[in-house]
Amino acid sequence: MMSILQEAESLFTYTQSLRRDFHRHPELGFKEFRTASIVAQELRKLTLDVTTGVGETGVVTTIEGASPGEVALLRFDMDALPITEQTGAEYASENPGVMHACGHDAHTAIGLTVARLLHAHRQEIHGSVKLVFQPAEEGMGGAEKMIEQGVLENPRPNFTLALHMWNERPVGWIGVTSGPAMAAAEIFHMRITGKGGHGAVPHLATDPIAAAAQIVTALQTIVSRNVAPLQTAVVSVTMIHGGEAFNVIPPEVELQGTIRTFEPATRQLVIQRFEQIVSGIASAMGCQVELKIESLTPAVINDAQLSARIREVATKIFPTDEVAGDFRTMGSEDMAFMMRDIPGCYFFIGSANHEKGLDASHHHPRFDVDERALPRGAALMAAAVLELLR
Ligand code: NI
Repeated sequence: MMSILQEAESLFTYTQSLRRDFHRHPELGFKEFRTASIVAQELRKLTLDVTTGVGETGVVTTIEGASPGEVALLRFDMDALPITEQTGAEYASENPGVMHACGHDAHTAIGLTVARLLHAHRQEIHGSVKLVFQPAEEGMGGAEKMIEQGVLENPRPNFTLALHMWNERPVGWIGVTSGPAMAAAEIFHMRITGKGGHGAVPHLATDPIAAAAQIVTALQTIVSRNVAPLQTAVVSVTMIHGGEAFNVIPPEVELQGTIRTFEPATRQLVIQRFEQIVSGIASAMGCQVELKIESLTPAVINDAQLSARIREVATKIFPTDEVAGDFRTMGSEDMAFMMRDIPGCYFFIGSANHEKGLDASHHHPRFDVDERALPRGAALMAAAVLELLR
C-alpha cells in the first residue's frame, strides 16, 4: 500500500500543472474569477457538490466520509499581489503588474490535490471535510466576507486547518507550532498638522517635520522600554510624507505603519503607549495630530492539542524532515478570523531552495518556491485530516 506521501507524489504532475497555470494567470483579491472557475471545475470532476460565489469569488465543497463524525474545515487562499514579476520563470505571470508572490497559487493547487487524496480515502473518514477556497487574503477581508456569508455554519466545523509555503526555510522543513503562530496586525495612519512657512523663518512656523522626527524616534521606545523583554512586539513606521521644496516648511506630514503583537495584553499596552507618545509629542511641539489605529487581523493562535497531533503526523510521514514546534512569525493572516472561535492549526511548509535561487522572500518580485514542497503540503494536510477524523 502506498503511503499518503507517495500518493501525493504520484499526483505531482497534476499539482504542478495547476500551480503553474495559476501562477501564469494571477488575479487580485475578489477578482479570482478564472482561478475560482478552475477550482470549481476540478472539484466537480470528483462529482462533488460545489458552491461558488461565497464571499464574492470563494468556492466551497464538502467531502462526506463513510460515517457521521466531526467536521473539518480546510482553507486555501487564492489571491495574488499587485507586483510585477521578475522571476524569469517559464510560467511567469502573463497578467502585467499582478503576481503570485506569496505562494497562494501553490496553496490552491495543494487544496485541489488534497481534495483528490481525501476523496479517494473517503471510506476511512468519519465525519466530513469542508474545503474552502478563499479570495482576498492579502489584507482585503476575504475570510471575514466568507464568514459573513456563513462558511462557518451548516455544518459548523469542529476544527480548522490551513497551511502556507514558507520561503524562510528550505524544503524538508515543516513548522507546526502550538499557541501563537502569527501576529495580530494593526495599521496606523497619522496626520501631523503645524503651520507652514519659509524655511529661512522657522520661528514664524510650527514645523510638523520636526514633530514627526521626534515621534518616530520616541515610538522606538515602546518595544525597547515599555514591552517586557520576554514579550514580543513590533512597531514599524513604514511611510512618511511631507514637504515639497527645500525652502518651505510644509503645513502637514503624514505617517503610516504597522503594529504586531501576539498577546492581547501586549497589544493593549503598545496601542496605549502609542497614543500617549503621539499626542504628547505633537502637543509639546505645538502641532495637532489625527491618529487612526485600525485592527487588520487578530493573532493566529494554534490549538495546542491539535498542533501536537499534527506534529506527530508530520514526524511519521516525513521521517527525514525537520519538524519544528516553536516557529512563529510576525506576519499576519486573516485565517485568524476563522480560528478565533474554532480551534485550528496553521502550519508552514518549507519551500526554499538556495542552490536553485528559489529563496526570495514572500511578496518579493523574484519570489518562487521549490515545487517539491507541493506534495509535502498536500500529504501533511490530507494525513492530518485522516488522523483527526479516524
Ligand atoms: Ni500569503
